[in-house]
Amino acid sequence: MQMNAASIVLAIGLLLLLVLLAIYAAGVGRRAHVPDEGVPTGNPSMERKVVITLGMMILCGLTLAGYGIWEPTRQARAAERQENVSIERGIELYTTLCMGCHGIDGLGAVVPDSNPPRVAPQLNRADFQPKDPDEYRSRYELVSKTIHRGRPGTPMPAWGRNDGGTLLDEQIHELTLMILKGDKQLEGGHTAWWHATEEAKEKIAHGSSEPFKPSVEVAALLSDEAKDGARLWSGRAGCVGCHVVGGVGGQTGPNLSQIGSIAATRVPGESAEEYIRASIRNPNAYLVPGYPPVMPAYPEGVLSEQELNQLVEYYLSLK
Ligand code: HEC
Ligand code: HEC
Repeated sequence: MQMNAASIVLAIGLLLLLVLLAIYAAGVGRRAHVPDEGVPTGNPSMERKVVITLGMMILCGLTLAGYGIWEPTRQARAAERQENVSIERGIELYTTLCMGCHGIDGLGAVVPDSNPPRVAPQLNRADFQPKDPDEYRSRYELVSKTIHRGRPGTPMPAWGRNDGGTLLDEQIHELTLMILKGDKQLEGGHTAWWHATEEAKEKIAHGSSEPFKPSVEVAALLSDEAKDGARLWSGRAGCVGCHVVGGVGGQTGPNLSQIGSIAATRVPGESAEEYIRASIRNPNAYLVPGYPPVMPAYPEGVLSEQELNQLVEYYLSLK
């Protein structure tokens, strides 16, 4: 950048010199053509040679200054192109290795074959796309380490070669870049995540299995407590793996899209709220006809009283 400013100053200086020289040269020409005006001053043809030589030198200087101005821009463009290529490779890796758990759009999905069902977290999110350089570095560290080492005790596998995985450091860099620059506009004006989604759809059309999306959109319509409940439903509590709400979820258990109305009709003497509470803490106390007793109980140690309240609030709102 400093180089650039110096080059611009130099170029302006040289241009000024060139203008002065041109004015001087015009004078030489005039004197050469009016030889009878008083005493000749100097040798016009010699002066012309000097003017031409000086002019050439200034032009050379200008060329160099122009290069100085242009070169940093060229380097920046090359780095930009290189970054875009890395992001595109990251997208290719993501849609091959990660979308099955993290979703075609990076908004999270139900981990295949997980029991009890788990949802892999959203990676396409604002706190993973920091603009502040310090924050960027710390996020880079977190994401890159997570991909290298995985998260032991969770379904997130280790991908780095040192940790028994199959990916090269360079590939993990490309994935990390793709996540941290997920909102960057690539060619065509679309973001990296948009391209990832398109590529994922293409792969699904050619036989990749389709990730199972937890419902996020229902959460938009709810009270705060119910919103937390909706997040538990599709997130940590994993109810989404067995229950459909609003067209999304697993089929092992009954569809809960209208449980807020149905609950009151299940067990005589139990209110809708009491029934939903009992279904979560002690699911086998009442079995919905036609379903096996496979729903796990969620005791205090798994879902706190507060979390239970949030889930109940959420289910009561589904009518
Ligand atoms: C088998 C399912 C699965 C696959 C495949 C998978 N992940 Fe994950 N991933 C998870 C789960 C589950 C978590 C949450 C772990 C936890 O609870 O801390 C996670 C967490 C993460 C996190 C940390 C998110 C956070 O909020 O801290 C990142 C980053 C990540 N995964 C990236 C990837 C990348 C990149 C790939 C592909 C190379 C990938 N994952 C493949 C299941 C998966
Ligand atoms: C492993 C699959 C599985 C998971 C996970 C699961 N359920 Fe269930 N659920 C079932 C099955 C099967 C039934 C029907 C049998 C029964 O009544 O226990 C059921 C029944 C229910 C019912 C009663 C539905 C009705 O129509 O009366 C409610 C409410 C319910 N589950 C809520 C939840 C909540 C909340 C979670 C998450 C905290 C959850 N379930 C997690 C399988 C599951």
